[in-house]
Amino acid sequence: MAKPDASEQSVPHVPVLMAEVLEALAPLPGSHIVDGTFGAGGYSRALLEAGASVTAIDRDPNVKPFADALSARFPSRFNFVAGAFAELDQLVSAPVDGVVLDIGVSSMQLDEADRGFSFMRDGPLDMRMAGEGDTAADLVNGLAEADLADLLFAYGEERKSRRIAHSIVAARAAHPIATTAELARLIEKSIGRKPGDAHPATRSFQALRIAVNDEFGQLVEGLFASERLLVEGGRLAVVTFHSLEDRIVKRFLDPDKGGPAQSRHLPQAVAEDRRWVGVAKAVKPSASEVTRNPRARSAILRAAHRSVAAARPANFAGLGAPRFKGAA
Ligand SMILES: C[S@@+](CC[C@H](N)C(=O)[O-])C[C@H]1O[C@@H](n2cnc3c(N)ncnc32)[C@H](O)[C@@H]1O
Repeated sequence: MAKPDASEQSVPHVPVLMAEVLEALAPLPGSHIVDGTFGAGGYSRALLEAGASVTAIDRDPNVKPFADALSARFPSRFNFVAGAFAELDQLVSAPVDGVVLDIGVSSMQLDEADRGFSFMRDGPLDMRMAGEGDTAADLVNGLAEADLADLLFAYGEERKSRRIAHSIVAARAAHPIATTAELARLIEKSIGRKPGDAHPATRSFQALRIAVNDEFGQLVEGLFASERLLVEGGRLAVVTFHSLEDRIVKRFLDPDKGGPAQSRHLPQAVAEDRRWVGVAKAVKPSASEVTRNPRARSAILRAAHRSVAAARPANFAGLGAPRFKGAA
């Protein structure tokens, strides 16, 4: 089994598909690239080392020390902005030659019990990346049973969502569910656990995290914001970690995959209307990357170049972004 090299052991979050992301963005000295999901700054650092200027964004205030370290090393080419990538084009000044989004949670967020993201670590049932808005505990203790079941099904593809929601509502009648361990135990008791299978709480935790952080809404808005922000020929690279997200990116980049309506019938019109060209085939991590970094196993990279066609207004239709009925 391949061992992690020293640089990977010393970083708190091992960047996934790093070489592939760099190839997709092709950073040039003097180019301006936006890293919309800074995390521990793995992509930003590599882009800076390639000579690009980087504006990095993250909604989690805890990434600040990593951003400060890069600011000290690249004072004239690195800028960090706290915020959500849905507002990318309001947070960053144009022109922008590349945008990268590495969707989801970082290893730091998962490993920190107090953040409440992981059923493997006991902590408060929080899951808020930005530390504001409703927590996972608010949803678990406040949603009606049918809405809770709907959420777990729509955002986590949990087939036993009704049974889980029923158990949660019965348990919270005695006292509110406050911790990750309590919820994980409750789910395991409700739907059982088969040896060799993923933990039975995996899908429910994913669903709650997506809802708490409006991750599908952020992704759709962030994709359209990138479309508005990038120069002609500018490059977009998006790494996602499950099929629901990947479907959104695939349809956004390629209207033939069912995305927002564009002219389909006249070949000339198709060429003129396409906002994205050079849409690359999905890239997955190599077996050796997955061995070195098991968290990379479900990663998928999609990339494309911005065409000259005018940007579209943000439009959720046709992208297949799940919605649960109780969503605001
Ligand atoms: C998978 S990590 C990124 C890791 C990074 N590529 C690296 O090399 O260290 C995802 C990061 O994006 C942030 N994030 C997730 N959704 C966001 C959003 N909508 N706006 C801004 N940041 C977001 C998370 O807080 C987290 O720090």
